Amino acid sequence: MKKYNVAVVGATGLVGQTFLKVLKERNFPIDNLYLYASARSAGKKVEFDGKEYEIIELNDDNIRDDIHIALFSAGGGTSKEYGPKFAAKNAVVVDNSSAWRMDKNVPLIVPEANPETAADHSGIIANPNCSTIQVIPVLKVLDELYGLKRVIYSTYQAVAGSGQKGIDDLEANLRGEDSKGYPHKIAFNLIPHIDTFLDNGYTKEEIKMVEETRKILGLPDLKVTATCVRVPVRMGHAVSVNVELEKPFDLKEVTEAFAKKEGVIVKDDVKNNVYPMPLEAAGKDEVFVGRIRRDDSVENGLNLWVVADNIRKGAATNAVQIAEELIKREIV
Ligand code: A2P
Repeated sequence: MKKYNVAVVGATGLVGQTFLKVLKERNFPIDNLYLYASARSAGKKVEFDGKEYEIIELNDDNIRDDIHIALFSAGGGTSKEYGPKFAAKNAVVVDNSSAWRMDKNVPLIVPEANPETAADHSGIIANPNCSTIQVIPVLKVLDELYGLKRVIYSTYQAVAGSGQKGIDDLEANLRGEDSKGYPHKIAFNLIPHIDTFLDNGYTKEEIKMVEETRKILGLPDLKVTATCVRVPVRMGHAVSVNVELEKPFDLKEVTEAFAKKEGVIVKDDVKNNVYPMPLEAAGKDEVFVGRIRRDDSVENGLNLWVVADNIRKGAATNAVQIAEELIKREIV
């Protein structure tokens, strides 16, 4: 089997470390592995598959020219600057930041929905926003069967979505200390504020969900709105999804279609208190859906509750799946 030279940029971060875990778990065919982070971490040792690797400082002089696939998760500024530089050296960059997602020359991919768009890349492929990734596999099923008319998202997003500093704030708050990154305490609280506010009163996170949903599903006119909330959960995002469909649907058919979809697990047995929850989704690669029920306040209305590990399916696993598509489709 052919093997590939893989770079991880942001290898010391929460997502970067999970890239490494997922690459190992899925037996990604790695020949050489190059681990990049900031000058702060240069020289630090990181273990992968029983071998020690030294962290390489990310700078112009250290970009190798033998990289096939570069997985980036080191913040938007780093992706904006270094993504094109890695691509210029013939690497295909799979970028977890929001820097390139809405660029029309950059495919934005959830493999359960639009893997074929990988072929259109010009060196950079974007990994969508964590909350968006996890709802796409179920929305894709609904769109194929009944057509989507309108989608309303309300998110419940774990602190791990803010990186290690989010987890540190939650733990500090539990010791009675103030947050360093969040504008308020997150322990025993809810913060309806993820990323920065825009002039229209929405946060960037909310607009990401709206725009990325349209782009991934190839539905530029889809009516979508979102409210994104940070909750004091360590790992695992939940999204309440209210959907209006174009055609009438059968609830049993919907549930069966979700159960058949690769990467989706139905947990919906309310009589036995079975529904998706972050504590159970954490550490898993699938998307969990439950509380599947009609919304009788509109025609063809449906309510869903979707939970996934935001660092795995919402970031690292989805990016590694994109890299697997690149290999499968012989794009690298
Ligand atoms: P470092 O550990 O050297 O700061 P998280 O999302 O958990 O906060 O992790 C962010 C990741 O991005 C870390 O690996 C961090 O490296 C890396 N990173 C942040 N800024 C830069 C930069 N300017 N150049 C390279 N890597 C960076």
